Amino acid sequence: MRRRLAAGNWKMNGTRANLDELRALVQAHPSPGCDVLICPPATLLERAARLCEGTAISCGGQDCHTEPKGAHTGDISAEMLVDAGAEYVILGHSERRADHGETDDMVDAKVQAAWRAGLVAIVCVGESEAQRDAGDTLKVVGAQLAGSLPEGADGDNVVVAYEPIWAIGTGRVPTLGEISEVHDFIRAELTDRFGPETADSIRLLYGGSMNPGNAAEIISVANVDGGLVGGASLKAADFGAIIDALSA
Ligand code: PGA
Repeated sequence: MRRRLAAGNWKMNGTRANLDELRALVQAHPSPGCDVLICPPATLLERAARLCEGTAISCGGQDCHTEPKGAHTGDISAEMLVDAGAEYVILGHSERRADHGETDDMVDAKVQAAWRAGLVAIVCVGESEAQRDAGDTLKVVGAQLAGSLPEGADGDNVVVAYEPIWAIGTGRVPTLGEISEVHDFIRAELTDRFGPETADSIRLLYGGSMNPGNAAEIISVANVDGGLVGGASLKAADFGAIIDALSA
């Protein structure tokens, strides 16, 4: 059985004052019915992890370098994330792919770095609006999946997040049928590559404008095992409502 995961991605949002929201979330959800993860900016990771110590809420990073240490100004290694209290790291988010030119090969190498440090990698895939309009969604997602996931992926070291780029931060959400088509496809691709037992153990998250109003119906789709939530993860009340929907 795959345990559902509510993962919050704060992106480049939040200073120490925002930890009050995390404090409220922790207090309101002592024993959630799903796994809960918050990925704050790196500047808050250690504080957030301390705050979550001994609770049901985990913390994670939003990116990592491939090397454990060295002359890479501004970068953060997977080992450093672990040292700060991370258990997960988001890799290959479309904003990283767009802002920093991250390729599938680079994401694959980062996943291996995450595993080296003992982190669970949340690998993001998803098509642009133009790619969807051209009918290329499954081709694009299939190629990203094949290129970004190293051999050895399983349910303990990887989570896959399907995030259509046009749905991120826009308030536009695919139909349940569109979500279902892509999630079924990802499960089938994982089955082809890793075999049914391993493929069935890997959680598939939906991401892109998930909110308290649509979380329940999105999680009802087969092969959706949770959500990767941006904007709605910043407020304890909103993210708490999503956790409740995923716990039902
Ligand atoms: P959003 O972001 O929920 O604000 O659309 C999701 C994401 O990019 O992970």
